[in-house]
Amino acid sequence: ADALKIGIAGLGTVGASLARILQTRANELAVTCGRAIEITAVSARDKTRDRGVDLSRAAWFDTPEELAEKADIDVFVELMGGAEGAADRSVRAALSRGLHVVTANKALLARCGVELAKMAEEKGVLLNFEAAVAGGIPVIKALRESLTGNTVSRIYGIMNGTCNYILTRMEKEGLTFEACLKEAQRLGYAEADPTFDIEGNDTAHKLAILTTLAFGTEIAADEIYLEGISNITIEDIQAAADLGYRIKLLGVAQRTDSGIEQRVHPTMVPHDTVIAQVDGVTNAVAIESDILGELLMVGPGAGGNATASAVLGDIADIAKSRPGAQRVPVLGTPAASLSPYRKAQ
Ligand code: NAP
Ligand code: HSE
Repeated sequence: ADALKIGIAGLGTVGASLARILQTRANELAVTCGRAIEITAVSARDKTRDRGVDLSRAAWFDTPEELAEKADIDVFVELMGGAEGAADRSVRAALSRGLHVVTANKALLARCGVELAKMAEEKGVLLNFEAAVAGGIPVIKALRESLTGNTVSRIYGIMNGTCNYILTRMEKEGLTFEACLKEAQRLGYAEADPTFDIEGNDTAHKLAILTTLAFGTEIAADEIYLEGISNITIEDIQAAADLGYRIKLLGVAQRTDSGIEQRVHPTMVPHDTVIAQVDGVTNAVAIESDILGELLMVGPGAGGNATASAVLGDIADIAKSRPGAQRVPVLGTPAASLSPYRKAQ
């Protein structure tokens, strides 16, 4: 079969990790997917920076929009970030052209994911975004595919690696909030603007995506009750520990009589629960549904390789898919009767 040609826009923490894995695992991937996967086009702001991977065979494009519009590719992989601007324009350009799109951009999806999903469905292409929620944990696949037929009653968990990393190191090593955040940035866990992590917006974006998949509601990240971890002190963490609790930033979405309640806030979690024991950059997502019962997935929630692993899975799904084959609906079936819970004014 012909090689699957991909264009990568964004060669930072995730994009460069993905490019390295595609190169070092090329032979194995060709066997697993039944066809080779080739990076034929790339784009980033700085053309001169060493990305730790040989990209000399790929065409460099000055802008991601140009790449999406003109490159000889089957799949546009968006790994730049940002809810608006270049990411938004280039993803729309790629979908309009009938290209499959893979993205890790939860901020973009939280803002206009339903619209993008409709564009993809109209064009008969895939919009895959496993890496947008909980890094390497296959939670999107679980909701879109494995839990088909289940009625979900609740989803909750630790969905931001940066915050969990900060809270863990503050508790276990007595380090300051600022020192832990700096280290999370150095390790490539944090968003380009880390206030999205520490003020809870990133968790809200992820929760909104999960809520839409699980309950069929419109994405409404701005309706979510939001409280981050920037005011949590070492004293708070120690006081919780003395009472037998650990503080975790949780995202919670649950079915109630008045709609879907969604909230993000620091939570005192009893010490002897699995969620309380989840440390560092690890994430945990629990899904409660009627047929399966409670599913708890724990795994790496951020970082280059963990995230690239999920992006690679999305690309592999496209490589294995046949043109014209039945597609999994991008965001499930909207249930008009359910509305996102509105926070008190
Ligand atoms: P990053 O390290 O900041 O890399 C961003 C890349 O995009 C850089 O290569 C940058 O170019 C390029 N870029 C940014 N704006 C651009 C523009 N206007 N035109 C062309 N190129 C542009 O970010 P990252 O951590 O890899 O994250 C990428 C995406 O994955 C984001 O949506 C993020 O939320 C998501 N994500 C990240 C993680 C993680 O652990 N890092 C996990 C899950 C999801 P230069 O290199 O030249 O500056
Ligand atoms: N900044 C995000 C986090 C990246 O720390 O969880 C993964 O989505």
